[in-house]
Amino acid sequence: MSLCECFAPGNAPLRRLTMLALAIASVCATAAPDGNSPDPLTTPDASGWLRTFTPAGTIDTGNPFFQSLGTNGRSCNSCHRQAQGWTVTPAELQQRFSATQGTDPIFRTNDGSVSPFADVSTVAARRNAYAMLLNRGLIRVGLPIPANAQFSLTAVDDPYHYASAAELSLFRRPLPATNLGFLTTVMWDGRETAAPFLPPMDAGVDSADLDASLTSQAKDAVLGHAQGAAAPSAAVLAQIVGFESSLSTAQIRDDYAGLLNNDDALGGPRVLANLRFHVGINDALGADPTGAAFDPSAMHLFDAWATQHGNGRSERARAAIQRGEVLFNTFPITITGVAGLNDVTGQPSIQGHCSTCHDTPNVGNHSVGAPLDIGLTVAARRTPDMPLYTLTNNQTGASVQTTDPGRALLTGKWADIGKFKGAILRGLAARAPYFHNGSAATLMDVVNFYDTRFNIGLDAQQKQDLAAFLAAL
Ligand code: HEC
Ligand code: HEC
Repeated sequence: MSLCECFAPGNAPLRRLTMLALAIASVCATAAPDGNSPDPLTTPDASGWLRTFTPAGTIDTGNPFFQSLGTNGRSCNSCHRQAQGWTVTPAELQQRFSATQGTDPIFRTNDGSVSPFADVSTVAARRNAYAMLLNRGLIRVGLPIPANAQFSLTAVDDPYHYASAAELSLFRRPLPATNLGFLTTVMWDGRETAAPFLPPMDAGVDSADLDASLTSQAKDAVLGHAQGAAAPSAAVLAQIVGFESSLSTAQIRDDYAGLLNNDDALGGPRVLANLRFHVGINDALGADPTGAAFDPSAMHLFDAWATQHGNGRSERARAAIQRGEVLFNTFPITITGVAGLNDVTGQPSIQGHCSTCHDTPNVGNHSVGAPLDIGLTVAARRTPDMPLYTLTNNQTGASVQTTDPGRALLTGKWADIGKFKGAILRGLAARAPYFHNGSAATLMDVVNFYDTRFNIGLDAQQKQDLAAFLAAL
């Protein structure tokens, strides 16, 4: 066991933990002057190093999370990989494809290919069949129009000639199987959430609900993704949920700024693992069960770098990250046309910030399970590789086109079309592309999406600062 791994978490105040994390991190950092990752918990990524913290100090690769529990050779680890922030990325999938000529277990037709009937008989055919995985890291989630839906599927434009009302093809990114203690809803559309964690509520996440959700999710993953013949035993499911729930993942080092927990900054997974959290914390609409008012400054990781001086490369990089954090917390955004927010509050225009929706302090997901439609699935943003669905309201006759109805496929509600959860914003640098449909290839693309969607008016420097901040999370 290396020195970097031999500290177990305690109940010490955050401040002391930060100092400890700092001490550990500096030991780890000096162990790798060549830029290679210093230990098995730390892996290189697009802009530095990603680190996963576990109470045991190791990743237990003997856990059933890493075992094939179904019939097609897949494990959870086929789609949830440590070095990719516990999801998968196109770059790593292309390597896996090359190394195995497209036969690695992730390349299976039940949900890895563009259609279950895709030709996979030759390497070239497989390259086409698995194009959505290879190009965008997307899995095909198949869901029907629910029986009592307020709408009907009146047209399908599926480039792969498969989707129908019985099974729409929804191409979605695997969500990170880490930092799960902060979840307020499970899956992009919340379909594995055992109990609705919606405001108003009087208690924090009852971890029994979270456990029940994750247990159901793991069972369905074995039966679905891994084509299991039977559900795993309760003991195996508990081992899987215990394992994934023990993971905390964040960027620990930035190529330019250096260690992200240096000089009193609070980056990295160690501090993350010990953050206080309850459902509704810092809720933007006043649903924090403690009664605390919303503080738009939801991110405080790099506050300590506000007062630093010097004009060296690392000082400039730190300053950019810190400025990006301030922009995230304070730069005005006029939020309009967001179903789930503007309609629910009855305010057609809300003066907000990034943190209005990403309100969980220092984590960045939505602290209540509030599905939102920020406009990613509209026809105007559809790319030719995505199916496009026309849905018609059974009552009014109105029609909309969408690449993914999202939450509406669970509730059957017209108002829920295009709604998804606001995901956790940690460990981003290791897991491009972003959004449920992988439509943003880089963090700068994410920033540009928001700038256009809400006419924010960020200048080039502000965009760079915001992207630098996101990469440091
Ligand atoms: C073939 C790829 C694949 C495999 C195998 C797989 N997953 Fe996933 N996982 C996904 C996708 C895709 C999603 C998101 C789907 C959605 O939201 O519609 C997801 C979502 C999740 C989530 C939800 C996280 C959140 O933020 O809501 C968890 C937890 C998870 N998976 C754990 C597991 C576990 C445990 C296993 C093994 C039993 C597993 N996965 C196997 C692709 C996979
Ligand atoms: C109106 C609410 C809202 C606002 C304002 C908002 N976001 Fe989001 N954000 C979301 C939702 C919802 C998602 C998930 C959307 C999806 O994938 O369908 C998301 C996703 C993201 C993701 C991708 C996460 C991932 O895992 O793929 C990033 C990064 C992000 N937002 C950053 C920002 C930044 C930076 C700002 C400010 C410029 C911002 N957001 C403003 C609601 C919002």
